[in-house]
Amino acid sequence: MNNLYSNHRKSLMSRLSDGLTLLSGGAEVLRNGDVSHPFRQDSDFLYLSGVGEPNCHLLLDPKRRTSTLFIQRIDAHHKVWEGYVPGLAECRKLYGFERVAYSDELPKRLKKAKKGYRKFYPNIAALAKHAKLLPLKKKPCLELADLLQELRALKDEGELALMKKAGDITARAHRRVMDQARPGMREYEAQALFDSACLGSGLKHLAFPSIVAAGNNGAVLHYRKNDAVLKNGELLLVDAGAEHNGYAADITRTFPVGRRFTPLQRDVYAIVLETQKSCIEMLRPGLNSAELHVHSMTMLADGLKSIGLLTGDTTGLVESEAVRLFYPHGIGHLLGLDVHDGAGGSKRKLENPFKFPIRFVAKLEPGFVITIEPGLYFIEALLNDPKKRAKYKNSVRFSKAEKMLGFGGVRIEDDLLVRNGAPLNLTDSRVCPKEIAQIEDVRRAALCRSS
Ligand code: GLY
Ligand code: MN
Ligand code: MN
Repeated sequence: MNNLYSNHRKSLMSRLSDGLTLLSGGAEVLRNGDVSHPFRQDSDFLYLSGVGEPNCHLLLDPKRRTSTLFIQRIDAHHKVWEGYVPGLAECRKLYGFERVAYSDELPKRLKKAKKGYRKFYPNIAALAKHAKLLPLKKKPCLELADLLQELRALKDEGELALMKKAGDITARAHRRVMDQARPGMREYEAQALFDSACLGSGLKHLAFPSIVAAGNNGAVLHYRKNDAVLKNGELLLVDAGAEHNGYAADITRTFPVGRRFTPLQRDVYAIVLETQKSCIEMLRPGLNSAELHVHSMTMLADGLKSIGLLTGDTTGLVESEAVRLFYPHGIGHLLGLDVHDGAGGSKRKLENPFKFPIRFVAKLEPGFVITIEPGLYFIEALLNDPKKRAKYKNSVRFSKAEKMLGFGGVRIEDDLLVRNGAPLNLTDSRVCPKEIAQIEDVRRAALCRSS
């Protein structure tokens, strides 16, 4: 495991061989009184060190080929209240560093290490804390941040093993919700089933607050209230993921609160499912992610035409963005130490070949992990917006669309490894099914058990 992080440091040093790199990790943030927010390490720091403790620093010296980890010096007060924290020798073994020192030695060590360097690459936190120690002409954080995104986008074997475990536990937690949710329960009870399954499997952090949205709440893209009652006849949308050693999973399943989809729910769900499966089939290295997004817009527009909500030429519905009234987000995003990971701006910058804005435009490479998550939603704020109603009066059947208000939304999301040949789906649909018949089988058995 330590090799994982020392290899990341080596890659970074080979790309920034002309300068000294200094990163400060995260610090605890006080919530109130003596209580801190739960600490989660900065993702770049985690990528290069694997160290989950707060108040650490990292000095990478490519000329001398050394990495030094600085940890906080713990006093008796800290030990009384917070317990044991590994010391220097233990950190050397635990995290595989050649050198480990206390943070109060950083100025002295940095002074020595600076000799022979004209360039310095601090991260933003190091710049904030140690600017005086670095002879900087300009603020060079962007170059380091961009390179780290670029490196982090390509997952190696060790990272994939961590992501696979995060994905497996997340899929089992979704299945637990599908197995145990029932009418009358509150959304937070369903959330507790998911969150506690992750914690109970040893994953202490979720990658983001779980979205557990029944009925119309499914139309709120980042719904977080999670307090409504689950009603028979509604859909339940669960978008949630745990992280393992910082590496995230991000899975969405939508299923009936009762035993079966209604015919209308089935139609909408089938459109989203076919779109999701088609986008997964299309995934390959070299593909521009913008094309993937437009493919999803096209399939969803066709589907909405088939159920009478859109009308007109499909290309026009995509180019005018009429379909975005029902699909206001992207097809997916990179996934890694952050649930929305970057691709690295400068190396992978691509032109958006389409006339309308698309947020995630990158050429897909083997080693990327990407989510594929099309959805359809019936959102009052979009469908009743007077400007949009005027603009799309000839393409959206608003009188019919209005009748869909209250339906909520359907999203289906899996996590995929892009590789040569077919992608590897890290989300095991045998564990948390997405096919209509399989979902209904699970729900039927679930509600038989609970009745
Ligand atoms: N869970 C947020 C997203 O799917 O992007
Ligand atoms: Mn998600
Ligand atoms: Mn996602």
